[in-house]
Amino acid sequence: MTSVGTYTTEDGIGIVEINSPPVNALGVNVRRALNEGFSKFAQDDSVKAIVLICGGRTFFAGADISEFGKAPEGPGLHEVFDIIENGSKPVVAAIHGTALGGGYELALICHYRIAVPSAKVGLPEVNLGLLPGAGGTQRLPRIVGAEAALDLMTTGRPVPAKKAVELGMVDALAEEGKLREDAIAFARRILAEGRPLLRVRDRDDKVAEARGKPEIFAAFRKANARAFRGFKAPENIIKAIEAAVELPFDKGMERERELFGELVTSTESAAQRYVFFAEREAAKIPDVPKDTPILPVKKVGVIGAGTMGGGITMNFLNAGIPVTLVEARQEALDRGLSVIRRNYENTARKGRMTMEQVEQRMALITPSLKLEDLADVDLVIEAVFESMPIKKEVFGKLDTIVKQGAILATNTSFLDIDEIAASTSRPEWVVGMHFFSPANVMRLLEVVRGAKTRTDVIATAMELGRKIGKVSVLARVCDGFIANRLMKPRGVASQILVLQGPTPQEIDQASYNYGFAMGPFAMSDLVGLDVIGRDSTERTLTGDLVKLGRLGQKQGGGFYDYDENRKATPSPVAAQVIADFAAHKGINSHGSLPEDEIVARLLYPVVNEGAKILEEGIAIRASDIDMAAILGYNWPVYTGGPMFWADTVGLKKIVEGLKAMGHEPAKLLVKLAEEGKTFTRG
Ligand code: 3HC
Ligand code: NAI
Repeated sequence: MTSVGTYTTEDGIGIVEINSPPVNALGVNVRRALNEGFSKFAQDDSVKAIVLICGGRTFFAGADISEFGKAPEGPGLHEVFDIIENGSKPVVAAIHGTALGGGYELALICHYRIAVPSAKVGLPEVNLGLLPGAGGTQRLPRIVGAEAALDLMTTGRPVPAKKAVELGMVDALAEEGKLREDAIAFARRILAEGRPLLRVRDRDDKVAEARGKPEIFAAFRKANARAFRGFKAPENIIKAIEAAVELPFDKGMERERELFGELVTSTESAAQRYVFFAEREAAKIPDVPKDTPILPVKKVGVIGAGTMGGGITMNFLNAGIPVTLVEARQEALDRGLSVIRRNYENTARKGRMTMEQVEQRMALITPSLKLEDLADVDLVIEAVFESMPIKKEVFGKLDTIVKQGAILATNTSFLDIDEIAASTSRPEWVVGMHFFSPANVMRLLEVVRGAKTRTDVIATAMELGRKIGKVSVLARVCDGFIANRLMKPRGVASQILVLQGPTPQEIDQASYNYGFAMGPFAMSDLVGLDVIGRDSTERTLTGDLVKLGRLGQKQGGGFYDYDENRKATPSPVAAQVIADFAAHKGINSHGSLPEDEIVARLLYPVVNEGAKILEEGIAIRASDIDMAAILGYNWPVYTGGPMFWADTVGLKKIVEGLKAMGHEPAKLLVKLAEEGKTFTRG
């Protein structure tokens, strides 16, 4: 293996340049090269100062995440960092792209930091269930103070260079495109001015401000308790920053190491690291190679300005892509447009957008009542009522109107895309682009390939999803595709379980404690029981509640009673309705169940459905199913999603559990369990 480092000198300045595509992660080869470069210049008397710079698209993007959990190889990060920080020559970190995690920690080891304006720096380890474990928890507070450090490290938010200079995270800005020259000039200036070797570890003033004030940390914990629920990393980050404030540097480093050790071996972090790679893996499709041409999409048409059409439109406006929005009726069009405007104005009111930007985005919409206005768009997304005859009619018309070579997409939730495609003369141009509500917020986009969909149409839809900030997951046609099909058994299971003894609040509490924002019954009450039960023709539990005027939060209460502040309390009336319905179904109540048993009854059937989705080839891989659950249904990310969680529980236990509940386990699930294999663990 050739070295990823080059070491050159320019008139007394040593330049260590690392080039390890794609993102200069601090893997073993990079650590070796750093070791080599800095040792070389330490011994070279002609070198008076050193610039550390990266080739390619970015400064170091952090530790190599794929190395966690494996046996360490080569020099460790701490070893390399010690050489740099404790050398006798000033080191200038020259930053472009993103200096993240271990990458920014490495910049903090250097004596000075210079960055181009487009660069960003930050410590995003929290998103991997980790804390900055290469001194970041001890050094950053010494620059920005404890309170700013708490915020930066528990959100993981990257800071743009200019702001980083204001905060002291970066010392100077370089001219865009001239990083190397400016960093060398900066190093010369340090030498000429005889500036000291500034080690962040030696600073104390910023951390001293918080010393002896535990109330700062107590208040931070309290204010964020809800956001941090279920995650392990934020609490350990807080503890590490407390150590930075209260302990001498070396003791603080020991504490950081201990707290990092707890996280790196936790299931939560393993899950979040898995999700990091799963998100990137989702873009890879075995029979659609990376070099498949992406079709240009410069103008989009959206049909239907209802709940989904409006949100879908906003995604494109946000990306600067003009949208022709077609409705059947003027009033529906006006309503749709005003909802979009209101959403943007709310964002502006919160200061996250200017009114000028609101107008710019609104100006990208061409409202219309005629499908004919879609003749020259590159992509149409249909979001009209969920009805096969209506969709077929719309696609039949589109076929005669829209130019050849345009993509015809449907946002259907459950309908057969091949049947919709068959109503056109160009089924190979038809694809599903299934957004989740609210479509301008939820990050999942299911791209559904029909039997005849062209590979360039698939590649373009996937890439377009990325462009508008979504994670695209590819599915094949079936009832409900991946996410909706996967989660349906949870709803069914909760309706049965509540007849067997556990109360709505016990079931909701178990779901909440597992990590969902809300349990199934609280959710039903929020959505409205009349909406949930509206398609049902037979007698149902929700239907019985509706008959009593219990529509949920909005009217009469539902599974719960509500006071004027919409605070829920258990409902004796609902309890009676449940008991009566159980009697009608001939189901005997066995009383309440332990929480883990409730979770098993709700979620093992989801795992089973996931296994079927996989064995039928609806999803390409188990991790795509996990992404769909996490991003489409807010499945708690620190469990890794249903399939990763199933592996954590153990597939044998899941198979046995399913059998005990009277479910037939999917063939794939049984096979993996028998072979001692897993869905997600390699
Ligand atoms: N380790 C290993 N691989 C990494 C990586 C890392 N830190 N960061 C990115 N990669 C890989 C990706 O998996 C992807 O691989 P693929 O092409 O095979 O799918 C490739 O690099 C390119 O990544 P992206 O597709 O994400 O590229 P973008 O240009 O969209 O984004 C980025 C670049 C902003 C750097 C983004 O990759 C990112 O956020 N990376 C992670 C940053 C991070 O979390 N760093 C902290 C690591 S933990 C740490 O440092 C611990 C320390 O405190 C001890
Ligand atoms: P909606 O009822 O809010 O909006 C549908 C709109 O389409 C209405 O404004 C209606 O006037 C318009 N429309 C009907 N026929 C039309 C035609 N021939 N030409 C032009 N406009 C027409 O419905 P919603 O919820 O937005 O759903 C739309 C589609 O998205 C459905 O297929 C649905 O299954 C799917 N979907 C819905 C989700 C949700 O949570 N609401 C989530 C994901 C997909």
